Amino acid sequence: MCGIVGYIGPRDAVPVILNGLKRLEYRGYDSAGLAVLSNRHIEIRRASGKLSNLESLVAELPVSGRLAIGHTRWATHGAPSARNAHPHASRNGEVVVVHNGIVENYLELRQELLADGVVFASDTDTETIVHLVEQDLSSGLGLVESACRAFRRLKGAHGIVLMSDREPDKIVAARIGNAGGVVIGFGQDEMFIASDLPAILDHTHRAVFLESHQVAVVTQGGVTVQTLAGAPVDYQVHDLPWDPVASQKGDHRHFMHKEIHEQVRSLADTIAGRVDFDAGRIHLDTLSLSPKLARSLHKVVIIACGTAYHAAQVGKVLIERIAHLPVEVDIASEFRYRDPIIDPHTAVLAISQSGETADTLAAMEEARKKGALLWSIVNALGSQAMRIADGFISMQTGPEIGVASTKAFTAPLVDLYMLAVLLADLRGVVDSANLRKLVSDLALLPDLVGRCLDRESEVVSVAQALKDTRHCLYLGRGINMPIAYEGALKLKEISYLHAEGYPAGEMKHGPIALVDPDMPVVILAPRDPWYEKMLSQVEQVKARGGRVVAVATEGDQHLASLADHVLWVPETPWLLSPVVTVIPLQLLAYHIADLRHLDVDQPRNLAKSVTVE
Ligand code: AGP
Repeated sequence: MCGIVGYIGPRDAVPVILNGLKRLEYRGYDSAGLAVLSNRHIEIRRASGKLSNLESLVAELPVSGRLAIGHTRWATHGAPSARNAHPHASRNGEVVVVHNGIVENYLELRQELLADGVVFASDTDTETIVHLVEQDLSSGLGLVESACRAFRRLKGAHGIVLMSDREPDKIVAARIGNAGGVVIGFGQDEMFIASDLPAILDHTHRAVFLESHQVAVVTQGGVTVQTLAGAPVDYQVHDLPWDPVASQKGDHRHFMHKEIHEQVRSLADTIAGRVDFDAGRIHLDTLSLSPKLARSLHKVVIIACGTAYHAAQVGKVLIERIAHLPVEVDIASEFRYRDPIIDPHTAVLAISQSGETADTLAAMEEARKKGALLWSIVNALGSQAMRIADGFISMQTGPEIGVASTKAFTAPLVDLYMLAVLLADLRGVVDSANLRKLVSDLALLPDLVGRCLDRESEVVSVAQALKDTRHCLYLGRGINMPIAYEGALKLKEISYLHAEGYPAGEMKHGPIALVDPDMPVVILAPRDPWYEKMLSQVEQVKARGGRVVAVATEGDQHLASLADHVLWVPETPWLLSPVVTVIPLQLLAYHIADLRHLDVDQPRNLAKSVTVE
């Protein structure tokens, strides 16, 4: 989705904005632009396509100044083009705006502005905002008041940043609803604004996060925060722990490859500080979960989107098996409109890497309205999903840049396992020997994942065999059924191949008709409680001439003799097996996409954080 950067201070703002936009490239975009206050007038540069196009334009037509805003756009209204790229300017060029979100009532506002004689220079909904601000500014109101009056007229959720050469000492930023974050960073006599932390982490580690319906007035010396109605608001300055170096590619050709390999460390970090191996206990202090609270729960509902939803599906098996607590799993975009049955004895747990996914945040608000206890598992510290929850678990994986989520999938699997064990302990449904075993198994994970990664060259051979296929079916069952979904999602999002994940037991009810020699079938058959059933699935596919790629436990020669290709995984306690079985599927998708010469880190049409509905 769209990325926003702003700067006010003593340096030339243009390199700061371009560097910030570069840090947001991973989010996905189709055009970019910036506006700079230069010699008391606003200059704009905009280009479609990659950020390098904007950089070339700025090199050809240099511009500099000490106040600037920039934007990477992910088109919603109007084709991806320089004309539709942000910033958008008012008719007299005195106000410029960048925007993340959708102006839901833009048609109505556009009609009104057209009737007032406004001529639109783009096809975007965003342009309505800047004309509304200009109208009030021209009638004599100040910039902040004009901006707030415009913001109050917008329907939908928005992150908005604007500036004007009439008041060249400030940038105005607003967060309305959940269209992604707005963060204000403090420097030495300089201030930064961004939609996402990576854009400003090179410069500052102290920041304020705007809450919904708040407006920040940012000057070189600091920030004041107010409501849309103008009432002052107190804010908290957060210290940000992330290291920007962690967002570099290092020796890897792609962020996705780096992040797949980081999982040995990220899983160790996920466990670190939460597991007392001597006492055989789990500590998730940021959840504030007491024995009384744990015993009072009747149900857990896990809500998420995409990859996070697949983690939620594994979480259902874990919490039901280990903590004996019923779990429902819901896609956030469905939950938010379904009028779900929730009561105060329900814990609603949102999983979100970015913590800013619009559907997930809206689902959390729905759960809050219905009186649920609200938890989240998030990667982005300080994100909205972390802040609005009653308790949270941090993934502790560091920033994930590749659009295809990998390490931010395995970390919540382990978080969910730890939550299940903690709930079981607090609810008194597990004996101490079992508890100790469940806890000690966690220590095996980094090594088991490392052993999967050591087999990467074998995965490359399978990728070579599959790279020209058109379709692929992924089958799993029980705790590994969601891994079939996740394997298929990884393949389709970065290789653009049609891939479908299916519960293996459902094959006979229809999809088996698809099986022929041109349909590779990836079958998850590690030694878990569903192993025998998956073996017969392999037989059924082979009997119909299908090509089988089996994910198998090392040493399983019987399965190897049936399958056409094998992706080996080490023997793993079955409740933790999804953390291991997903690794070769992440690598398989990565290598197929790479062999097809595709843009692995920024696949077409996708964005890292989906901040619109
Ligand atoms: C994962 O590979 C996808 N990019 C996507 O499905 C993602 O998991 C989904 O949009 C949810 O994002 P979140 O975790 O930031 O909420």
